[in-house]
Amino acid sequence: MLLATAVTGVVFAASVAVIGTADAASTLGASAAQTGRYFGAAIAAGKLGDATYTGILNREFNAVTPENEMKWDATEPSQGRFTYTNGDRILNQGISMGAKIRGHALLWHQQQPSWAQGLSGSALRSAALNHVTQVATHYRGKIYAWDVVNEAFADGGSGARRDSNLQRTGNDWIEAAFRAARAADPGAKLCYNDYNTDGVNAKSTGVYNMVKDFKSRGVPIDCVGFQSHLGTSIPGDYQSNLQRFADLGVEVQITELDVAQGGNQATIYAAVTRACMAVSRCGGITVWGIRDSDSWRTGENPLLFDASGNKKAAYTSVLNALNAGGPTNPTTPPPTTPVTSPPTSNPPSGACAASVSLNSWSGGYVATVRVTAGSAGVNGWTVSLPLPSGSALTSTWNATNTGTTGTVTFHNVSYNGQIAAGGYTEFGFQGTGAGPTATPGCAAG
Ligand code: G3I
Repeated sequence: MLLATAVTGVVFAASVAVIGTADAASTLGASAAQTGRYFGAAIAAGKLGDATYTGILNREFNAVTPENEMKWDATEPSQGRFTYTNGDRILNQGISMGAKIRGHALLWHQQQPSWAQGLSGSALRSAALNHVTQVATHYRGKIYAWDVVNEAFADGGSGARRDSNLQRTGNDWIEAAFRAARAADPGAKLCYNDYNTDGVNAKSTGVYNMVKDFKSRGVPIDCVGFQSHLGTSIPGDYQSNLQRFADLGVEVQITELDVAQGGNQATIYAAVTRACMAVSRCGGITVWGIRDSDSWRTGENPLLFDASGNKKAAYTSVLNALNAGGPTNPTTPPPTTPVTSPPTSNPPSGACAASVSLNSWSGGYVATVRVTAGSAGVNGWTVSLPLPSGSALTSTWNATNTGTTGTVTFHNVSYNGQIAAGGYTEFGFQGTGAGPTATPGCAAG
């Protein structure tokens, strides 16, 4: 009995040491990292020369989000001409800090370049998917999570999609964007991101139903972002709302947190932090700016540092909540790309098999092709695929193509020719007209 008590005492002391004040981290990022989470900030390329700003950034945060620099108007100011200068500055700042980089945002009804605002129908659909493909390919392998689609649901009680030029290209525009993003950067987590979804309400339930539908049909989605631009209160069901999404099998992330300064600011910040810490699939928190003077909410002083860079009471409440611990964020398995048509039977030794999943709309489609190696693996592959009459290929990613109509052949590029036995890689292409229905041929070499 005495021994059992002594042993229990030791175990208790050891477990306290893990989360107790003795091991309390003194910065937001380090503290979040103790439970496998990140604590990030939205940052602006134009402020990276401000020593106070970068001093806080380098000291406190282990994730960054570009506030504006990776949006459509910034990255493709005229159609087909891509500019990554400022996005790359954010990327390189994040890399220099060893931080996670959240990409924000591939498609959104706001901050579209004027040329895209003037498009509609399949011209807009093609342009939007090409944008997703090009930007996600440019940042391939560097982005922790992409906000693939931002703010596509309406406010109010309908729980429906918001009207927008993108929505008018067909209800499947969101899933088409997610498939194109997965094909372009298979390593990035793909998120849907929205505001006013911070409690259980009609809008968040609309998003919930979409995510549930995507998961059931194999549309590649890995995470949901809750912006959490909060006023002077927090929904009482904030945590249970996060949990219901987590229970669908997606990571949840607080993506744009800021809270109006009032009597409750520190309390609300702490409540948000505790909620994330209590949900094992909550991957991390991002605040939407560093100092109050950096915020888009002019005059509301909604951030963790004052205009001079001093820590506010809200900072301390967040740090304490992070240091109090919570279940560890499980390492989410690498994303998998689902196929809507089952792969063909196992290929023979040394050879390969290919299968196509299609996302079609009136006048066009995006195809994702999975190439699976046989029991000997392959070192190089060629896929041939007949396109229906009237169909023409307009762009290809993660492969090179020969021909654009009739039977088109696709060859691996330098980084995806080698496939281990039983493994697979994927490439994609976009086309006009009807998508292919034939089974593709696959040859090794
Ligand atoms: O850079 C130009 C500057 O050259 C010009 O002189 C000035 C004149 O208006 O505009 C500057 O661009 C502004 C840009 O922020 C950079 O400061 C844009 O006008 C302004 O519209 C833009 O606002 C951004 C806003 O998104 C656009 O809708 C905010 O910085 C940014 O914080 C905000 O972030 C959004 C998230 O992306 C999505 N969720 C909501 C969140 C808050 O609105």
